[in-house]
Amino acid sequence: MTNKQETKVLNDTPSGISEACRRLKSGELVAFPTETVYGLGADARNSMAVAGIFKAKERPTFNPLIVHVESLDAALELIDLPPALKELAKRSWPGPLTLVAPIKPNTGISDLVTSGLDTLAVRVPNQQLALKLLSEFGGPLAAPSANPSGLVSPTTVEHVIDGLSGKIAAVLDGGPCSIGLESTIVGIENDVPTLLRAGGLSIEDISEISVVQSRAVGSTKILAPGQLQSHYATKAEIRLNSSAPKHNEAYLAFGNSKPDWVGLDLSPQKSTTEAAANLFAHLRSLDQTCTEQGIGTIAIAPIPDDGLGLAINDRLKRAAAPRNS
Ligand code: TXA
Ligand code: MG
Repeated sequence: MTNKQETKVLNDTPSGISEACRRLKSGELVAFPTETVYGLGADARNSMAVAGIFKAKERPTFNPLIVHVESLDAALELIDLPPALKELAKRSWPGPLTLVAPIKPNTGISDLVTSGLDTLAVRVPNQQLALKLLSEFGGPLAAPSANPSGLVSPTTVEHVIDGLSGKIAAVLDGGPCSIGLESTIVGIENDVPTLLRAGGLSIEDISEISVVQSRAVGSTKILAPGQLQSHYATKAEIRLNSSAPKHNEAYLAFGNSKPDWVGLDLSPQKSTTEAAANLFAHLRSLDQTCTEQGIGTIAIAPIPDDGLGLAINDRLKRAAAPRNS
């Protein structure tokens, strides 16, 4: 049974938003923009709808989902935020930060969202259309990135359609995502705020206000279940930290492109913020070029770890990981 359905593109208009809400309330899946990447939204209190996310993405069910809400107050109805995380939330929400904290009793959140854990991941996105949607919907929306599991995350409506057309009811069009990398995830371990995933909020931004251990980065221990090794898989192989492409390689440059190379530049300005915004779109488009031109490998320039560089390098390591895990 394929259940093929037409995927509707909805505009940022009152009627587009109302239709998105109506569909979400009836248990359908609607992708929506955030400042990080497009999310595949479902009513977090409707288990059938949440199950639909796993089906559409073909996602392993042990992988819990992030819930999106419109405000800190709405988040506090769902989770018990320890003071250190609450301070982070006040500083950074709305924004590209997800907080993992103990879930309160009787929230109605589907067990499929938490994968049975006693914690819940929550964030308030900093994107006007997402906030309008959340406010009109009036409840939590579960939303992982709106791409088939393991593939490159979507930063435009076209990317969402490429991956999920026919499998979801609709996508709200909010234009390209401004940040282009998933949110930074912070939890609590032994009373210390702990980085679980590097992301769109840079470590420098966080360490200003709170001690953060970055144990998850570069370690092989899976802290956020779902931090699977191979992720963001392209069809072409990936070769990291290369200052120039070899013969018959495409090149993803960082301010060091040459006109005779087949490739794209993540940031002519050598800015990790600009590179983050371009990362997924450039990976997709270069992968397509490789397929068309019979090129087997994308070589990628070294990216500095400053600002969003840490998160970019985390994504690139996963993109380069062996595909059989
Ligand atoms: O920017 C983002 O975070 C995007 C947009 C759509 O908001 N969402 C996103 O969701 O990246 P997703 O599902 O692709 O990534 C969720 C991550 C996974 O690594 C998952 O394991 C982790 O969050 N996570 C969710 N709930 C958790 C929990 N209770 N404890 C630890 N990690 C959790
Ligand atoms: Mg994802």
